[in-house]
Amino acid sequence: MTSDFGGAGWTVEVRGLRKRFGEVCAVDGVDFAVAKGECFGLLGPNGAGKSTTIKMLITLLRPDEGEAFVAGYSVRRAAGRVRGAIGYVPQMLSVDATLTGYENLLLFSRFFGLPRRVRRERVEETLESMGLAEAAHRPVRTYSGGMIRRLEIGQAVMHRPKVLFLDEPTVGLDPVARQGVWDHIRRLQQEEGMTVVMTTHYMEEAESLCHRVAMMSRGRIAAQGTPEELRVAAGKPEGTLEDVFVHYAGAFEEQGGGMRDVLRSRRTARRLG
Ligand SMILES: Nc1ncnc2c1ncn2[C@@H]1O[C@H](COP(=O)(O)OP(=O)(O)O)[C@@H](O)[C@H]1O
Ligand SMILES: [Mg+2]
Repeated sequence: MTSDFGGAGWTVEVRGLRKRFGEVCAVDGVDFAVAKGECFGLLGPNGAGKSTTIKMLITLLRPDEGEAFVAGYSVRRAAGRVRGAIGYVPQMLSVDATLTGYENLLLFSRFFGLPRRVRRERVEETLESMGLAEAAHRPVRTYSGGMIRRLEIGQAVMHRPKVLFLDEPTVGLDPVARQGVWDHIRRLQQEEGMTVVMTTHYMEEAESLCHRVAMMSRGRIAAQGTPEELRVAAGKPEGTLEDVFVHYAGAFEEQGGGMRDVLRSRRTARRLG
């Protein structure tokens, strides 16, 4: 997918971002920018620093160094404004499995401060658009993995954010459920003009959804560009993004498990305990 973006100013701008946890430098000086309406992917194996980067952008973690602007607001100096402009789908379960889909969304509509008179209508619209209208009044513990993920995405966009952050949106889902989640992410981006920043270690996911990707390895960005640009620059115009990743971040095979191992272990990962 080629990128038709840029020039019109950035919706997300990241400069020299760093975060340490004790001895570990989880994010070690990261720079990238995301244009309005673009879908940007942070790609990389387990432990590369993807989630930590996202957490700094959504103001859940404070950067040690560097700066980031989201929807024009500094994550350091205007965290409240940033929070009002974004939606976030975390890697871990973010809905209450004992409540129904309807109840989960209604709770969040209050949490987001939606005016009382629009709450129920917005909840119903969200359930409808996420293909969950029929399951609305069933407890979430009876939902499939794909349904839960769609509910979580619906929950994250109910207040119509400018920027949507998704951390590993299809971990543990079967291929059909993954397609369903991809369709919804694409719809939000294409029809609602939402800017999307997502992390993934599934190459085909990045290739299918992202206009541009940054390949992360050990807290740094090894390369960034459109999938096409990266393939050409790596001298693998016919290769998969996985080949390209290995070219740019060859060292990641030594990081205690290469991409293939990660894929194998995550496929069996269960998100509902
Ligand atoms: N809260 C934390 N405390 C200590 N170390 C952490 C914490 N969060 C992440 N790390 C470490 O930072 C590195 C990057 O983690 P993370 O950002 O979760 O990577 P990814 O999302 O790419 O798998 C890993 O080595 C991880 O163990
Ligand atoms: Mg992560």
